[in-house]
Amino acid sequence: MASSAVVPSLLFCLVLLVSPYLAYSYPTSYTHGGKHYVLHSNSDPRQPGQTPTCSSVHSGRSSSDGVPVLHRLSPCSPLGGARNQEKATTTVADVLHRDALRLRSLRGEDNHGAPAPAPGPSAPGGGGVSIPVRGDPIEARPGAFEYHVVAGFGTPAQELTVGFDTYTSGATLLKCTPCAATEPCDQAFEPSASSSLAQVPCGSPDCPFHGCSGPSCTFSLGTNNTLLGNVTFVTDKLTLTSSATVENFRFACMEAGFRPRDNSTGILDLSRNSHSLASRASSSPGTVAFSYCLPSSPSTVGFLSLRAPKPELSGRKVSYTPLRSNPGNGNMYVVELVGVGLGGRDLSVPPTAFAGDTLVDLHTTFTYLRPEAYSVLRDNFRQWMTEYKPAPPLGVLDTCYNFTGRNFFSVPAITLKFNGGADVDMSMNGIMYFPDPGNHFSIACLAFAAAPTNAREAAVVGNRAQSSMEVVYDVRGGKVGFVPYRC
Ligand SMILES: *[C@@H]1O[C@H](CO)[C@@H](O)[C@H](O)[C@H]1NC(C)=O
Ligand SMILES: *[C@@H]1O[C@H](CO)[C@@H](O)[C@H](O)[C@H]1NC(C)=O
Ligand SMILES: *[C@@H]1O[C@H](CO)[C@@H](O)[C@H](O)[C@H]1NC(C)=O
Ligand SMILES: *[C@@H]1O[C@H](CO)[C@@H](O)[C@H](O)[C@H]1NC(C)=O
Repeated sequence: MASSAVVPSLLFCLVLLVSPYLAYSYPTSYTHGGKHYVLHSNSDPRQPGQTPTCSSVHSGRSSSDGVPVLHRLSPCSPLGGARNQEKATTTVADVLHRDALRLRSLRGEDNHGAPAPAPGPSAPGGGGVSIPVRGDPIEARPGAFEYHVVAGFGTPAQELTVGFDTYTSGATLLKCTPCAATEPCDQAFEPSASSSLAQVPCGSPDCPFHGCSGPSCTFSLGTNNTLLGNVTFVTDKLTLTSSATVENFRFACMEAGFRPRDNSTGILDLSRNSHSLASRASSSPGTVAFSYCLPSSPSTVGFLSLRAPKPELSGRKVSYTPLRSNPGNGNMYVVELVGVGLGGRDLSVPPTAFAGDTLVDLHTTFTYLRPEAYSVLRDNFRQWMTEYKPAPPLGVLDTCYNFTGRNFFSVPAITLKFNGGADVDMSMNGIMYFPDPGNHFSIACLAFAAAPTNAREAAVVGNRAQSSMEVVYDVRGGKVGFVPYRC
């Protein structure tokens, strides 16, 4: 190890060499020799206490990349992120609570009642639709609004802010008019204003409700005693960008009593279901069904791209891992994690610790491994970090450091190794969680945790691990790919 006097000047030279990678990162950070270095920069354009504005948001994407993806707390979000800046710095407790709810939802433990009376027909590789009979189906999907896009529904297109998710009940859910008298209605889709809307007939293979009555595919949803409203399957045109449109896109119109909790209009379904947007985005040999790049912080912009060009055809380095078949829940994409690398070396984790399904999830924040895998990662990580001052744990994040007052620090690189030789290097934001996102020289925790012992899946790769990567869903090719440093 070089002495601390030499290291900073060496770092400075390296920083100049890799400066293209620094365009949007503060503090200055880069990777070298199996380590991520973070340097204190004097050129921080932001000032402490300054309220972020939409114009200060960095867009690392180009307009051809697809529709912009915003974090729910982005100052550019139409959902009030800017209006609620005091809430924009979420507390760690809030993040951990959202993760706990999401993990429970992934395990199917929060089903309010039974699924819809009869599941819809299942296409190969696609599950049915399961909308709970009781309660609000959107409330039943906690944490599904971490990221948003603005999409156009109908003709002329009604621009609506919707969350998107790869793990859904198998249908796009949209709040529609008429709204209940007591509900705000400005963010609802108006079916009567669209010239291209068509009803799905009751009894048609596209209608998942076998209990519907009347001509249309309608089902009444309520709580135990009260009718919440009707859910009706319809088809209409979907416009993501001028070049990404889907005719006759099927979605569930939810009338009256439904209100997505964060003012968005609903959830866009990118699941493996045969009716999802992913399945409808018929891909050609040069494209994949869809891809996304999640913004690494609320102040950056990502993208969601339908029929995205295959990254390898644009000369980008992509690591693919095969999709596993998933008889348990055909709507979920599952892959297989086979190992974890730390600082350029493979950790010796018993292979059984990874056996089974791994979910790459959009709305889980941290990455959860089985306890026997997590403990190996944590113990080895701690050995690399002995020179830093430990900080108290934050909930399930039990490996924290206090970098206050330092001029630089480094952490070992972490590589997720997927089946098929896909080695995915995580960015600094994937490895460490900074409770104060504007200040890396404060408390930072390893952004991994032990999964609950009753977890069905071997691992859940959260959205921090995916930050600044393009994740490519080649549904037709049966694989998921990762393109690092893409946004
Ligand atoms: C939803 O919108 C209302 C009115 O526009 C606003 O007062 C409220 O803060 C918003 N809620 C969120 C979570 O943004
Ligand atoms: C609805 O009924 C179920 C079971 O009977 C009960 O557990 C639940 O608390 C009830 N929900 C409401 C909102 O009353
Ligand atoms: C909901 O559906 C039921 C039965 O199809 C119908 O009688 C009722 O009028 C509908 N409610 C609304 C608000 O459209
Ligand atoms: C981190 O270290 C600084 C300086 O040593 C100290 O003032 C601060 O209280 C520490 N924070 C925590 C959470 O331990």
